[in-house]
Amino acid sequence: MEQYREMYERAANEPEAFWSELARNELSWFEPFRKTLEWNPPVAKWFSDGKLNACYNCVDRHVEDGRADKPALIWEGEPGDARVITYSELRKLVSRFANVIKALGYKRGDRAIIYMPMVPELPIALLACARLGVIHSVVFGGFSAEALKTRIEDLDATLVITADGGWRRGKEVRLKDAVDAALRDCPNVRNVIVHRRTGSQIEMQNGRDLWWHEQEQQLGAQGDTCPPEQLDSEHPLFVLYTSGTTGKPKGILHTTAGYLLGTMMSTKWVFDLQENDVYWCTADVGWITGHSYIVYGPLAAGASVVMYEGAPDYPAFDRFWAIVEKLKVTIFYTSPTAIRALVRQGDKWPDSHDLSSLRVLGSVGEPINPAAWEWYYRVIGKERCPIVDTWWQTETGGIMISPLPGATPLKPGSATLPLPGVVPEIVDTKGNTLRDNREGYLIIRKPWPSMVRTIWGDPKRFEEQYWSKVPGAYFTGDAARRDEDGYYWVLGRVDDVMNVSGHRLSTMEVESSLVHHPAVAEAAVVGKPHEITGQAVCAFVTLKKGEWDTGALSQELRQWVGKEIGAFARPEEIRFTDALPKTRSGKIMRRLLREIVTSHAVTGDVTTLEDMNVLASLSTQQDEE
Ligand code: WTA
Repeated sequence: MEQYREMYERAANEPEAFWSELARNELSWFEPFRKTLEWNPPVAKWFSDGKLNACYNCVDRHVEDGRADKPALIWEGEPGDARVITYSELRKLVSRFANVIKALGYKRGDRAIIYMPMVPELPIALLACARLGVIHSVVFGGFSAEALKTRIEDLDATLVITADGGWRRGKEVRLKDAVDAALRDCPNVRNVIVHRRTGSQIEMQNGRDLWWHEQEQQLGAQGDTCPPEQLDSEHPLFVLYTSGTTGKPKGILHTTAGYLLGTMMSTKWVFDLQENDVYWCTADVGWITGHSYIVYGPLAAGASVVMYEGAPDYPAFDRFWAIVEKLKVTIFYTSPTAIRALVRQGDKWPDSHDLSSLRVLGSVGEPINPAAWEWYYRVIGKERCPIVDTWWQTETGGIMISPLPGATPLKPGSATLPLPGVVPEIVDTKGNTLRDNREGYLIIRKPWPSMVRTIWGDPKRFEEQYWSKVPGAYFTGDAARRDEDGYYWVLGRVDDVMNVSGHRLSTMEVESSLVHHPAVAEAAVVGKPHEITGQAVCAFVTLKKGEWDTGALSQELRQWVGKEIGAFARPEEIRFTDALPKTRSGKIMRRLLREIVTSHAVTGDVTTLEDMNVLASLSTQQDEE
């Protein structure tokens, strides 16, 4: 703890010296940097005059430094197949695939969409892009064709990397079909490279669609090497779309050196990473947690990374614990939603496995409630393993607030203290710092290396969204309080962003999908508390005039949203109503709706409500249930 305090102080007093020393010592450079930070809010440049390559840092340098035969990826397929890929094998696989992309004419600055199951070819595809300076954008396999199309268009991508399908609960998720549907409206995509995973029948469009393995075979032996491009520190590494407060997802841009340094250092600090650790983060690479803590952070640190393709409950509720036992996992990082779902199934599932290899447990994506924390600590960690509750966001790139295992005294439900170099604050609506134990907005005062650089194609929105509420400081969109020990308690979003199973979703995104349906006149969506998933989507819907069978329509609308966004966005509950509560100026009073789904009694101020009858009828619907 003393060491942490010292390091924190040093980083707070001399942030540039602190980060430049780490960047010099921990990253491998083709050309060293001299400038550490150029900060013209909201534009940050870190280590800008240096040159490096993220893929080289994650792969090649470990082969050169004596880790050639160390497992880099330890993969488990859902059907029970498995693969171990060493760092030297990874270098070869990544180089071969980079050569495939290169031979097709793709080069630095081009954009590739990656839409794949959780197979080794997924990190290989990311790293191959990084090797060439091709900017990748992974779209989570649970997103629909429609969502995929929007992202391809926004990014103006010319390459799509996918697979025939992947396995989820014993069923095939047919990815290539979704790509075909999306590409009907995306003429700029020149090629689709398809990895064969399930072997099922798919369409291949002549000239455009190519099999990964066939392209690789054509390379021959000289395909095994591919020199990594020497890229600027600020070269874009990837864009990852995330939900904001409007219907349009934001393309969060991360660049090379700062992102890599932030994710690598946080992996080492937060998980106390040691040379022989077997490290497993259960997230999907389609979300930021997978980017930062399956691919870039742990691989830059030279770790052995476990990757699992399927669902935690397949074929039975002990799949996670069976994998921990089989692979002797030492560090395990998952989400509160997964923990809550497994708590429900009882202790017999973990109790039937040897979990004694575990050393550190992590949690991410949402606040962890005391009951889930306690179970995780007692039943999984046997009261031996510290739990690191890590707070961060797609935009922060890496973990910002978290305990350091073994050092930071834990308080269940608190992400505890900021990492060195991170300067959070709790402020009121005017940006004034609040006293201890007051609830307010969580902001970050000073720039940090792995911070978001811009929103792809929309620097204005970037500035408005994150930097205008408290000028010069980063606005997280979360509410929090800091207690008398300086510990942070993150309370949840203050904007119209929901958190369903740790997946970010905007209320507006779901609303705009609902109003596209011919039967729907108006829709208002709010998150409602849910025992397992944290929040669930609840939609209030008014219908256009006509005869509608609301029973059938409810099902249809759920499917509709599934098709437009993805299955995880389907409303759990749809309430049909004659009108929505609005202010006299016509704004939907979402706060009221939130209160209706949260509690029975509406207590807030309703003096601006136009029609009190609406409220009465919405509330009775609740009581009747
Ligand atoms: C929430 C996921 C409480 C928070 C890495 C944040 C958390 C949003 C925690 C970002 C935590 C994440 N405790 N809340 N430990 N971690 N959140 O971009 O509301 O998918 O703003 O990044 O998740 O979600 P995102």
